[in-house]
Amino acid sequence: MSTVRTVDWDGAGGGAVAAIDQRALPGEYRVRRLATVDALVAAVADLTIRGAPALGAAGALGAALAARRHPDDPARVRAEAERVAAVRPTAVNLRRGVERALARLDDGADAVLAEACALLDEDEATNRRLGWRAADLLSELCPGRPLRVLTHCNSGALAAVAWGTGLGAVRELAERGLVEEVIACETRPLLQGARLTVWELREMGVPHRLCVDSAGASAIARGLVDAVVVGADRVAANGDAANKIGTYALACAAAQSGIPVVVVAPDTTVDHATASGADIVIEERAPDEVRAFAGVPVAPPDTPVYNPAFDVTPAGLLAAVVTESATFRDGSWTGDPADAVAAANPGSAWGSR
Ligand code: MRU
Repeated sequence: MSTVRTVDWDGAGGGAVAAIDQRALPGEYRVRRLATVDALVAAVADLTIRGAPALGAAGALGAALAARRHPDDPARVRAEAERVAAVRPTAVNLRRGVERALARLDDGADAVLAEACALLDEDEATNRRLGWRAADLLSELCPGRPLRVLTHCNSGALAAVAWGTGLGAVRELAERGLVEEVIACETRPLLQGARLTVWELREMGVPHRLCVDSAGASAIARGLVDAVVVGADRVAANGDAANKIGTYALACAAAQSGIPVVVVAPDTTVDHATASGADIVIEERAPDEVRAFAGVPVAPPDTPVYNPAFDVTPAGLLAAVVTESATFRDGSWTGDPADAVAAANPGSAWGSR
């Protein structure tokens, strides 16, 4: 595996965000330097940086870029940071990352950067813990055998600063010798499963197969899958989970076949201010993502398009939502992710709730 963090702070040359360019993988592994808020906003919009925890890191570092650029103008810093927070509305970690770092603005730009860097430092430890908890639960739900896991989109190290969430749990299971195979859905339109998850599984040495999105339900129905394991972009208070478009359909298929769906995400993805999935804003992306494939048109250029980036899976279709400190199962939370979020966000709107 790469030892480079997916998103990091590079202090050289006046300082910049350093990010693995996720648009270029698997063909090319390159790191981009993003020295301005404009560059960071564009990189979040075009999915150079993507995946919920990685977006949290980008948000915090975006606030730091703004604070360093306008050290004597807090109003300008907040306005610039808001531009970062608003780029992708579904992934709550983005705004949370911004708010956590901005909570230190009164202490100066260096303090904002230090808070952002603390968020990055915590990410891997958090993910290892939630992966470990999710692996324990999956072993309980599907006892006595190495698992055949189906996953969707990319919830690995590339979706975080390091290690990953849903795919981090798979990695933990693999280290325990408990993975027979992972089936990765390709994840149209932008192929995060084919391009990124498969790349990570190869690096991990985990046996895997790639399928088109429309084969996922059939793999489940044919008995090729023991459990569906995914990440999330926002989990509502009632356990409804927003994740990459197509997750809901897989959950319906899993329910029909009686296999568990486990959502693995950090506490910071649980949004207790959002009562249910119906309240989650779903990001709509550009029509050309669907009208073309790798730049080649696959539909008439003026075709109207429906291109939601995410869907919501109702809690009733989930066996569990697992975070590093809490589990949602059978209609209620054990542990208290709200407290954990507050502890991680002192002084912010989240922390004071
Ligand atoms: O549009 P993306 O690639 O940012 O969507 C990412 C996902 O939907 C992931 O599954 C989600 O962020 C969980 S990953 C930790």
